[in-house]
Amino acid sequence: MEIVHIAAECYPVAKVGGLGDVVGALPKYQNELGHTAKVVMPMYRTKFLYDNQWELVHEGSQQIGTHQFHYSIIKEKTNQLGFDLYLIDINGVLDREKVYGYEDDTERFLAFQVAVCDWINRWTHRPDVIHCHDHHTGLIPFLVKYAIALKENLKDIPTVFTIHNAQYQGWMSWDKYALLPAFDNWKWGMLDWNDMINPMAAAVKSAWRVTTVSQSYLQELYQKANGLEQLFLEERQKCSGILNGIDTKVWNPATDEMIVKTYDKKTVAKGKLKNKKELAEKFGLDIDKPLISFIGRLVEEKAADLLPEAISQSIYEHNGQVNFLVLGSGHTGIENQFKKMNQQFKGYFNSYIGYSEPLSHLIYAGSDFLLMPSRVEPCGLNQMYALRYGTVPMVRSIGGLKDTVKDMGEKEGFGIRFNHATVQEITYAVGRAIDLHQHRTEQFDWMRGFMMAIDHSWDSSAQQYIDVYQSLQKK
Ligand code: ADP
Ligand code: GLC
Repeated sequence: MEIVHIAAECYPVAKVGGLGDVVGALPKYQNELGHTAKVVMPMYRTKFLYDNQWELVHEGSQQIGTHQFHYSIIKEKTNQLGFDLYLIDINGVLDREKVYGYEDDTERFLAFQVAVCDWINRWTHRPDVIHCHDHHTGLIPFLVKYAIALKENLKDIPTVFTIHNAQYQGWMSWDKYALLPAFDNWKWGMLDWNDMINPMAAAVKSAWRVTTVSQSYLQELYQKANGLEQLFLEERQKCSGILNGIDTKVWNPATDEMIVKTYDKKTVAKGKLKNKKELAEKFGLDIDKPLISFIGRLVEEKAADLLPEAISQSIYEHNGQVNFLVLGSGHTGIENQFKKMNQQFKGYFNSYIGYSEPLSHLIYAGSDFLLMPSRVEPCGLNQMYALRYGTVPMVRSIGGLKDTVKDMGEKEGFGIRFNHATVQEITYAVGRAIDLHQHRTEQFDWMRGFMMAIDHSWDSSAQQYIDVYQSLQKK
């Protein structure tokens, strides 16, 4: 089958979070299964663009409202990512360094979607599936069905929409209506949710199938979906949960060039210690104490706002028997609290405020525990990276965390779980981590080996998506 993935992020071209990891890996694994999966994304001005060779494959022009724009599509020449990668350039709109965070994001992603649809409409053949990811591509399943210029050619192509995060929906007011390409007017209701144009809702209504990135998250969406609960209930027939995998080639402690000492299951204790030593030296921490780390966006969804208090309280309550390290960026208020704590808790806590792919690898490798107290976690990849690197995940029982981590109190359990995102429960979990690290060495060693042997590679999930696509093909 020929599958076209359309997304705003794709590692290593441009990544903000897990969406980038997924779009950078899933197509590769689908190709390994014998299909032809490609990725189309905006051409941001990132390092990857300048470091690689490209060929021009198409040029066109479109408009949003009265604004006429020219677009061009380039393709990476060497297929080095394991799939064909296409970037869409729209000058003045997509030619920026960052993926998100501009005032005109609505217009940017609208223009992107209009250009992608126009390009596919000009192909001399039809792909078997269009697979869209998150709200930045949420209008596409609607447009291919109902846009006047597209529907004749494209309406029979099955569309799949994957929800990586339903918190963000791409809302726009109906004032923006005039920016959309002409479509069958009586279908306006397909775009609407609570008197707004809602690209995520439009995708859930228009796509042939909707998937979420874990099964538990889908169940949660029926009850809590940032206003879309009723829509998910109405559309439940076409929704399913497929757990993300991880790219075990990029995330492999036995070959990872971003860590100081590579290791496998047999050498895990020594290997992790060397990496921990590097972290301890860099961040002024104590190698003999358990090291609990957090990596992620400093936002409420990740419960990052609780961390300053939870960490300070844990250090006091557990008499300084533990070290913490944070890597992340996000709300300035939280960043500033961490910066203050670097001084206040010197020797016990440190943080790196910013984004660093190499440091993240070193932290997965050198930490004893990885903390994820998330309020919302559709899947979560960090805990799966932690498992692969023999690092014990400490997670709130929610979404994908619940589906991938079993508490050490259970038979063959290997993680620490808690039910609520509160300072109290985090502090209690820290106590359990300290106890495991200091007093239950045998169990700790067993857990490391066990976690590293768990297979979270994309093999099985990539096939599950193929099964979904196949179910949509005309017999
Ligand atoms: P989300 O997509 O909600 O942010 P995920 O757990 O799915 O959460 O994925 C987060 C990804 O982003 C992981 O690859 C993680 O290592 C990475 N990441 C998050 N913050 C940082 C950071 N500050 N520096 C480096 N990598 C980061
Ligand atoms: C989103 C979710 C995260 C998930 C990722 C990849 O960003 O917040 O839980 O792992 O997408 O699907």
